[in-house]
Order: sequence, then structure tokens, then C-alpha cells
Amino acid sequence: MTSDIKNIAVFASHGGSDLQAIIDGCKAGKINARVCVVISNNSGSLALQRARDENIPAIHISEKTSLGNLGETLFKTLVQYQTDVVFLAGYMKKIPLNVLSAYRNRIFNIHPALLPKHGGKGMYGINVHKAVLAAGDTETGITIHRVTEEYDAGSILEQRKVPVQAGDTPEILAARVLEQEHIFIVEFLSKIL
Ligand code: GRF
Repeated sequence: MTSDIKNIAVFASHGGSDLQAIIDGCKAGKINARVCVVISNNSGSLALQRARDENIPAIHISEKTSLGNLGETLFKTLVQYQTDVVFLAGYMKKIPLNVLSAYRNRIFNIHPALLPKHGGKGMYGINVHKAVLAAGDTETGITIHRVTEEYDAGSILEQRKVPVQAGDTPEILAARVLEQEHIFIVEFLSKIL
């Protein structure tokens, strides 16, 4: 019997709370997919631990572990786990060109702001929320976009707004946005898969 359940490979560098939302969304049957592999450039990332806890293959792949052949190693791993879709959930590295071309239009990233504002090199983590507050924006949000060779520059697929509130610190704002990401990511993946 063939199954139309898709395989999502998730790339994550740190905490992996977005990864967890995807895993939970799959387990709850909200997303017609399974997480087939989790790849991290950071061997100590909580994301890899979360994957192991769920019996999902968790693989540390970096320039160093792949002996200078990062693109080939990533590609082979994605093929090995029969990846249909790649989701970058807090992945801090650029995706090599060979992987981009093999999975063209099937690699997505989530960014914690309303791109094209507050994106690009250096715009990650708390820096994004500091920039939103420094700009005096009254709203921020979440963007899911296609991945290209530039950070945060691929075509925008979906956005969700999140209000900025009086008295927000970057940390408070970050927490509000992240909470919404966990809902938004599941809605997005259930829609496209
Ligand atoms: C999220 O804010 C996401 O938008 C960004 O990285 C963060 C990942 O958070 N790309 P977590 O590691 O999943 O908790």
C-alpha cells in the first residue's frame, strides 16, 4: 500500500521549539507528514535532543563533520531519509546551492518578523525584536518564505501579524512572536502538505 504521508526534514540550530511544534502537529494528525530527519550544525542543540526523544533520526552535520563536502553530505542525507520537503526552523547557516537546486521550491524558512523588514545577515534571534522596537513599529509578525542563497530573501508565502505592545522588551516580544509561530507553522504545513 502506498502512503501519501510526506517526509519533512527539519534543520535547526538551537532550541527547536518550532521543530517541536511540527513534530506535535504531525503526531496530532494536523499535518499529513512525519519528520523524517532532524539536521543541526550544532551538536549540542536542544533540537537534536528533542528529535532523539521522539525517536527521529538526529544528525549533526557541519563543515567539519562533512570534511569540506557539506553540500554533498546534506544532499545524501536528505535523499537517504526520502525527504519531500525541507523546513528551516531556526537554522543559522546558508543552504548549499546543490541542495537548493535539488529541492527547489520545497525548502521553507520561518522568520520572526514581517519581511522584507528586519531580515538579512545578522537579523536572527533577539536582534530581530530589538530592531522592531528600535524602529518604533506598532506591529511585527512572522514570515514563511522560500529559501534562496541569500538570508531571508526568497519569495514570501505567508505572513501573520503580531502586535507590539506598550512596555514590550525584546524578550517579551520574542516570546509573543514565538508562541504564534508554533500555531502558524502547523497551519502552514497542513495547508501545503
Ligand atoms: C524562531 O524564532 C524562528 O522564527 C527563527 O528561529 C527561531 C527558532 O526558535 N528562524 P526555536 O529554536 O525553534 O525555539
